[in-house]
Amino acid sequence: MADILTEIVRHPSAWYGRDLLNDSSWIVHLEPGHLAEIAAAVESVGRRALPFAALTKDDFPLPTLGPQLRRWQKDVVDGRGFYVLRGLNTRDYTDEQVGTIFWAMGLYLGRAVTQNPKADLLGHVYDHGRRYGNTDLRGYETNAHLPFHTDSGDVVGLLCLHRSKSGGLSSVVSAVTIHNEILKRHPEYLAPLYRGFHYIRREAALTESPVTPHRLPVFGARDGLVSVRLIRNQINAACTKTGVPLESVEKEALDLFDELAYDPAIHLDMDLQQGDIQFCNNYVTLHSRTSYVDFPEAERRRHMVRLWLTMDPRRPLADGFPTASSSSPRFRRRAGQPTRSGSAARGDGVASSPRSPGGIARVAAGWARPGRRTGPSRHGNRPA
Ligand SMILES: [Fe+2]
Repeated sequence: MADILTEIVRHPSAWYGRDLLNDSSWIVHLEPGHLAEIAAAVESVGRRALPFAALTKDDFPLPTLGPQLRRWQKDVVDGRGFYVLRGLNTRDYTDEQVGTIFWAMGLYLGRAVTQNPKADLLGHVYDHGRRYGNTDLRGYETNAHLPFHTDSGDVVGLLCLHRSKSGGLSSVVSAVTIHNEILKRHPEYLAPLYRGFHYIRREAALTESPVTPHRLPVFGARDGLVSVRLIRNQINAACTKTGVPLESVEKEALDLFDELAYDPAIHLDMDLQQGDIQFCNNYVTLHSRTSYVDFPEAERRRHMVRLWLTMDPRRPLADGFPTASSSSPRFRRRAGQPTRSGSAARGDGVASSPRSPGGIARVAAGWARPGRRTGPSRHGNRPA
């Protein structure tokens, strides 16, 4: 087990939501010049009919926005751990063009990681009209409340394509603040959280798939930095699978973690506007979503587009702390990636290059949902 950090962390990543309610510095705005660069790049891509997933930065030049995205990203990597990018005029584009813009921004920030067993690299988050609880259904495919959790990529980006009629607040909480609070209130709970838990994906729990052979830590510390990983419903599924319940101290520690995350003084709720893009560092923050109600018209229903990225450079992590490379070999095979290191690609579920022969940069089928907006747009033909 990694060494437990027993000092209060004083760092921009240790923030309290109550302090950010009247501080909008976590929202940054695209400028007219940035929007003009985006429009020109979209038109160029449309003219050349470039396949969506084969784009490179050269195909989508953002001469001033590209470097600015990297500067903003520093706040995700080294600072607060999240920010919201505002001002993308999504109504001027088709849905696919918005997806292309988001994908291209990702090219400037890191490398895309597959998001599910289908190896989708650009995912869609909307209500599929089924009830959360079906084992083949992920929470993001429902309109249900999603508890605080981390995603598997280093960074998760979420673009708001269409808002819900009501609800659907996006909440973010600092894991560093939670670590500080546990240290102050119940330091005895840090040991079970650093020791971690066995996991299994919910949909795998009823199959022959085993739980993770090793415990995955909730907290890890290196160079005075605390990192987090927590998906509690996968821990619960592993307990069900093995028939071994959590020890009392484990359950109490997780319950305190949740209690702190849901404390309105600690987390931050945000009502994402159409065109907003939220970037969160999964080692520093956890995110959740309140339940929501959709508009009755299909074309107005809530729809978010999701991107999981590796960070470059990656945050220093404790030895053995799970990373995006912890994706299962099945993910890597489905993604067209090798399952062992040392071959052509990284073997971590990441498309080393969408143009690499082994890579299948797959876009989820969400554009095919009823009511999607395919054009015409103000900015040329939609990309192939
Ligand atoms: Fe998530």
